[in-house]
Amino acid sequence: MFKHIINEKLELRLLEARHAEAVYEVIEMNRGYLSEWFPWVPNTKNAEHTKTFIENELRRFAHNNGVSTGIFYENKYIGNISIHEINWNSKLSSIGYWISSEYQGLGIVTTCCRELLNYAFETLGLNKIEIRARTDNVRSSAIPIRLGFKQEGILRQVDYNNDRYYDHVVYGLLKDEWRGK
Ligand SMILES: CC(C)(COP(=O)(O)OP(=O)(O)OC[C@H]1O[C@@H](n2cnc3c(N)ncnc32)[C@H](O)[C@@H]1OP(=O)(O)O)[C@@H](O)C(=O)NCCC(=O)NCCS
Repeated sequence: MFKHIINEKLELRLLEARHAEAVYEVIEMNRGYLSEWFPWVPNTKNAEHTKTFIENELRRFAHNNGVSTGIFYENKYIGNISIHEINWNSKLSSIGYWISSEYQGLGIVTTCCRELLNYAFETLGLNKIEIRARTDNVRSSAIPIRLGFKQEGILRQVDYNNDRYYDHVVYGLLKDEWRGK
């Protein structure tokens, strides 16, 4: 088992195929809430789909192309946080996240982002991390703002979900801006 302990309650663990049932259970419990934001939710219909996702993400990690980790709180899987595909030429990537609705508002995702930013800048040696959120996703945007990202622009109609297009706001943080935090 590969894990990163953040504090006595919180860990990031590399997801393995054996976690598929637990991950699917949390997606199923949060289906309505998550499908408001993510187009992949309706296509995730059983634990086999989750297992395929985990296997693809493990392949990405093995190819030095980012990492997808499970957020475990008091030893229980409660959500996901990932470093997406890496542009190694520009040393650029982005972070994405979601958490089970009952665990919102505790600072868990902000804390996990901080850990992944240290990993991205210090261990991987990346130069820039972006976080993108739908312009109407105030809770999500609060995270990069809280962590000192700068708003860089709006991407128009880049997200199609529930029969309509949405704009994304892009936040960026440079390695030099993160140092000393
Ligand atoms: C967006 C999402 C990840 C935010 O999760 P969250 O739990 O609200 O975010 P955090 O863990 O950073 O919590 C921040 C809140 O915890 C509070 N908090 C408590 N302790 C804290 C701490 N030590 N550090 C930071 N914030 C803390 C903050 O005051 C803030 O409260 P507020 O939202 O009432 O202002 C979550 O709502 C979610 O999964 N939504 C659905 C999927 C989604 O939108 N994903 C993002 C797509 S871009």
